[in-house]
Formats: sequence, C-alpha cells, structure tokens
Amino acid sequence: MSSLVVFPFKSVEVDLVLRNLTIAATHHAVEEVLGVGTEGATTAIVAETAGAIESETDTRVSVAIQERIGIHRPGKGDAMNTAMRRFLDSSHRYLHFYDADITNFDHDWIDAAESAATGGFDVVRHYFPRASTDAMITWMVTRPGFALAHPTSLLWRIAQPLGGELLMVRSAVEHLVSDPRVAERSDWGIDTMITFATVAAGLDIAEVFITDGKQHSLYGSLEDLRLMVVECFAAMASVRSAPLLSPGRYHVDPSAPAGDEVTTKVGYSLETTLPLLTDGWSDDEVELAVSVPFGHELVRNRDSIHFEFADGDCWREILSGLLDLADPANATWQSVIFRFWVARVLAYTTTTALGGHGYAMGELETLVSDYAAGAV
Ligand code: DGY
Repeated sequence: MSSLVVFPFKSVEVDLVLRNLTIAATHHAVEEVLGVGTEGATTAIVAETAGAIESETDTRVSVAIQERIGIHRPGKGDAMNTAMRRFLDSSHRYLHFYDADITNFDHDWIDAAESAATGGFDVVRHYFPRASTDAMITWMVTRPGFALAHPTSLLWRIAQPLGGELLMVRSAVEHLVSDPRVAERSDWGIDTMITFATVAAGLDIAEVFITDGKQHSLYGSLEDLRLMVVECFAAMASVRSAPLLSPGRYHVDPSAPAGDEVTTKVGYSLETTLPLLTDGWSDDEVELAVSVPFGHELVRNRDSIHFEFADGDCWREILSGLLDLADPANATWQSVIFRFWVARVLAYTTTTALGGHGYAMGELETLVSDYAAGAV
C-alpha cells in the first residue's frame, strides 16, 4: 500500500525534472516515481539519470515514453493517460500527478494530498495563489464556461480546474481510464476533462491549499498560450451538455493572501501581445467573428487596437455565443476564439487587475458566481 508519483514533462529544464523526481523519491509514502515524456533529448537524459536517483534514494524511479492513446494532438493528455494505465497495472494505492516545472516542489505537496486521501477523499486537488494576470484560461474560459453550461454543479467552483497537481485513489483512476472522453483527450484539454469526469461521477473531492504557490516561469506574449486556449476551450465545450451525477463530498481548504512573489508578478508581456489582435485577419475570420456577440467590436482591431469593450458582462454573451458555435477542428474558429480571449484578457489586465491582487481575485470570483447565478 503506497503511492506512485508521476511527473509528465516535455519542454522543461532537465535539472528541474531531476530535482523533482528526487524530492518525490525521498518521501516516505512514495514507493515509485515515474517521469513520462516524449521521445527526445530531454527524456533520454532524464532516463539516463533515473537509475542514479533510484540507487541514491532506494525508491523505484523510471521514465516512460508516453503512448499514443487519445485522438487529439499528442500532448500532455497522452502522458497522463499513459501514467494512469501504468498505475492500474501496479498495486499502489494512490496516484499523484505534479507538473514537472514546479520550482518549489517539496514534501508538503505530497503530505497535503496524502492526508486528505487518508481522510476518505477520492480526488485531492492542490490549489495555490497565482498572479492576477496568470491563470487567464482558468478565469476567462474554463470556470466561466462551466458556470454557464453547468451552473448548479460543483464544476465552476473548482479553483484550479486546469491544475496538473492532484492525487487520485485507485477507484477514481479506474473510473477515468474507463471514460472514453478522458482517454481521447490527448492534448492540453486533459486537465479540464479530468476535472469534468471526476465531478460528473460524483466522486468525493478535496482541494488543498499550498500557501507558497507554485513558482514557475510565466509567459512572454499571450501567443504562448494559443494552443492551450483552443484545446481547453474545446474540452470544456465538448461536455457542455453532458449529464452529471449528484455531487459527492466536497471540501475546500481556506485560502490565504498571496505573498509578494505572486502579487507582484506580471503574467505576460503586453507589448508583444497587442499585434495578436490587429494582425493577419482573414475574410473568413471576420465573417465568423461578426456572427458572435460583440464581434463587430473585435474586428475593429483591423484598423486600430481595440479591446476595452470586453468587460465581464459582455464576456458572458461572447462566451455563450462561442460555446454555441464551437467548432474546435476549424482553424478559423480557433483563431477567432483566441482573438476574443486576447481582447478579454487585455481588457481585464488594464482595468480590474490594476486594482491590486486581492481586489482582482475577488472580482473574478464574483464574476464567475454571477455567471452561474444568471444561468440557473
Ligand atoms: C491557466 O489559465 O490556468 C493556465 O495554466 C494558463 O496560465
């Protein structure tokens, strides 16, 4: 009876992956640590060093190449699905996942999850303070989208539905592996789908708070998040009409104010983001954009930068319109939802976010609950 800790990784510094594998391997409850990567130089180096970590820590440490399991872009989802299948072939009791890029990973993350699981929860999700201009997919797509589509559910309340840090007990993993929506989701949509599937099944869910947050590098331009926006939106939209069982037991640790490390962090570069709104419009994009509420405002960016319209109220209408028109495989649709999202993030960054971290977080939280209340 023991735990397996998994780090999916791709473009992460090798030293960071090795550091995190070593920390996990020295935890008393952890019997095995697994890195899951794609074929390539990083994985080869990590695999070469795994044996040394294993001898040093006396815990099984290995690296696997992610299998092709899903039907979307091969990405993080294939890695997580590979790990879930390996876990079911083992006799471990708990499966932990952590993103490999956490620079302040330590035993507290494992302790917090293990203790909630021992207390009877099927799924334990970590949450932590994030910069007010970080988590922009969580705040502008996933939580509001869930609030509009499933307003009476627990889904939109989950603080970090895209979080890659979580623990699952064996029965929860069995459930996820048997759900084709999870198996299919090979891309960035996996976190959304795991959140959805665990809530929809009525599993008992706890959210544990990690005070120091997750220190990781933030983004350059919002362009860095294009793929993630599109794939997370697609995953959320794909379950907008899916049925949910009644919620299981739910516990959320109280949060605490964020430290300076988080409150003073800037999420992305404004300067390199602005051209994403103005440049390269095709006729097809214009045609699609204007069929969505406030699309005429968005296409004004062809002449000059224009994002102020995208406040919280108008975003509710835009998001509903985008959900109705969801066509994730269509490149024009992808480009249009991305531009709408960029406008919304810029509007928020230059208004609400300027009010300070605590204020901005409160406003975002209120907005999400208002969307849910309005959609009931
Ligand atoms: C999110 O929005 O939570 C993603 O991790 C991007 O920051």
